[in-house]
Amino acid sequence: MTPSQFISTCTADAIDQAAAQLRAGALVAFPTETVYGLGADATNKSAVARIYEVKGRPQDHPLIVHIASMNDIEKWCSEIPTYAVALARDFWPGPMTLIMKRSPLAQDFITGGQDTVGVRIPNHTLALALLHAFKKLGGSGIAAPSANRFGQVSPTTAQAVQEEIGNYLQLHDQIMDGGASEVGVESTIIDCTHEHPRVLRPGAITAQMIQKSTGLSLLENSNDAIRVSGSLENHYSPKAKVILDSIATSGQGFIAPANIQTPDGAIRLAAPRDTDEYARLLYSALRASDSQGISEIAVIQPEGEGLALAIRDRLLRASRGR
Ligand code: TXA
Ligand code: MG
Repeated sequence: MTPSQFISTCTADAIDQAAAQLRAGALVAFPTETVYGLGADATNKSAVARIYEVKGRPQDHPLIVHIASMNDIEKWCSEIPTYAVALARDFWPGPMTLIMKRSPLAQDFITGGQDTVGVRIPNHTLALALLHAFKKLGGSGIAAPSANRFGQVSPTTAQAVQEEIGNYLQLHDQIMDGGASEVGVESTIIDCTHEHPRVLRPGAITAQMIQKSTGLSLLENSNDAIRVSGSLENHYSPKAKVILDSIATSGQGFIAPANIQTPDGAIRLAAPRDTDEYARLLYSALRASDSQGISEIAVIQPEGEGLALAIRDRLLRASRGR
């Protein structure tokens, strides 16, 4: 047993208590529509330092600040381009993070010393309730990376959070159970510091949606000095070796669209019927391979643009191993 609390029934009281614990400097893992986040008060340096400890994450990787509503953007960001406002109106609450020039509130311990900050309003009832309760207590934003150990697969259920980081949490820390994440892959990260938007991490808000919302073409992602830890080559990795574009042989795990049959002796980890379901099931399938001690997973990737692109992005990184 770990000393932290696992809250399986998230009543209004439980949410208020979690918000109070956050304000007091504890960590609270909470559900979002993308993946579970490990939250801390984004203005509390020592609380944020504990996120890095629990995750085992290098100090210079910036965190996303989760906010309750649109008017909190101005607290955290100093330059807000018109197209970012359009994106926020169209897609928040939702699976999208906007990177903008930071305000003085966004200190080095949040931004990894960069002059920009990432903000997002998540689309999950529990996350929004927690953010609003936190705001009522005077909070400005909740810093939350995905609630996994550094480099590993993001958790999409509270049980997965418990398995990942339960042993690193302390007495007043909490894990809030809000069911399985609906989207299943992390938010689209959009750099809004240039005249045109630029996608730093693909997700459920697609390039096409961004173009339509802003009326602008997108800048190419040139992988320059901006540090996106999710863009490290070997992220999102299960223990098993991930082999792309391959039909499983006997004894291997197999992730493939539902219309592809499971070869004899292979262990089917997921059979998604469409791209949305593929995203939703992917991380729990990778996790299941670890808990079943499977050493190799063959994967048939989803085809197409949009969310399929985000899935292939994560699979490519997973296939590069740890
Ligand atoms: O869906 C999500 O975004 C989830 C949920 C919990 O909201 N969060 C998440 O956080 O994926 P994390 O820390 O695991 O990944 C956030 C990524 C990191 O790769 C980080 O480097 C990048 O966002 N990031 C944060 N602030 C940034 C900034 N100012 N400039 C560039 N990249 C930034
Ligand atoms: Mg992450």
